[in-house]
Amino acid sequence: MATLNQGVAAILSPLKGSDFLSSADLTSQQTFALLELALQLKKAERRIDLGNRVLGLIFTKASTRTRVSFQVAMARLGGQTVDLNPQVTQLGRGEPLEDTARVLSRFCDALAVRTFKQKELSEYARWASIPVLNALTDLEHPCQALADFLTIKEAFGDLEGRTLTYIGDGNNVAHSLMLCGSLLGVNIRIASPKGFEPLPEVVKKAKLLSNSPSSIEVFNDPFSAIRGVEAVYTDVWASMGQEQEQSIRAKAFEGFCLNKDLLSQADTKAIVLHCLPAHRGEEISAEVFESDASRIFDQSENRLHVQQALLAAVLGGL
Ligand code: CP
Ligand code: NVA
Repeated sequence: MATLNQGVAAILSPLKGSDFLSSADLTSQQTFALLELALQLKKAERRIDLGNRVLGLIFTKASTRTRVSFQVAMARLGGQTVDLNPQVTQLGRGEPLEDTARVLSRFCDALAVRTFKQKELSEYARWASIPVLNALTDLEHPCQALADFLTIKEAFGDLEGRTLTYIGDGNNVAHSLMLCGSLLGVNIRIASPKGFEPLPEVVKKAKLLSNSPSSIEVFNDPFSAIRGVEAVYTDVWASMGQEQEQSIRAKAFEGFCLNKDLLSQADTKAIVLHCLPAHRGEEISAEVFESDASRIFDQSENRLHVQQALLAAVLGGL
């Protein structure tokens, strides 16, 4: 274990002071090492005390899992968080982001930002002198992807060569799954209705990160995409900020509900994942959500462990 710990620490030490804006910000080796450290923390084989560091949480959108897992992760690392929602700071009254980011850099040791545009997140990273972490944008959800692959690793023991099918909107969650999956050697199939496929530039980037370009595939038919796979994933049809499109999207996504029929085409040992919050009867049936195949709440718990590992790495606590 000592050798493994030293190896993990050596691989992760260059991340001290780094931002985490995209799954593609990590190397393949760093991604594997973060998952390893997260597992060690989960099994209580490792304790890390960062010594009273402070993480600022700037959340422009609602959050249960991401917010609370960051809060608990910091508490377990001996630090704390401060809530900096734009509604209660001067950001909401128009104070420029570049001033806010520089001021907060004098008070906090890192910032976790949840917002709409990836560009806004990069602006925080540009102006802050402390690490900035992506807590979800419209483009990516990289902390989520780390937890997702940790859950698959726990279920199967290894990741390389496994296949995950994501059924639904080709946006933030799908993008990070493709990028992170490529780094980990997991084949990713995305099944989206026409017009809701992942962005071509993200597909291209994921293929470049992968050892085998054929490991990223985009489908418009969920039945073809799910055949024989070991992990099946879905997410809401209308993401935060798209609530007014709910009924148009419900039409467009007809046939994309992860129900028993669809799941029966996957491997018999396939596991079911969902980042949550879930809409039973829309993207997933209540039966599949509650089935033995579901690892959804393990996946949710794993947010805590991967973010603890990430915080330890970027705050230099290894
Ligand atoms: N999965 C996820 O990010 O959940 P929250 O929106 O509750 O943070
Ligand atoms: N795609 C969803 C993910 C929520 C965690 C959204 O952006 O609302």
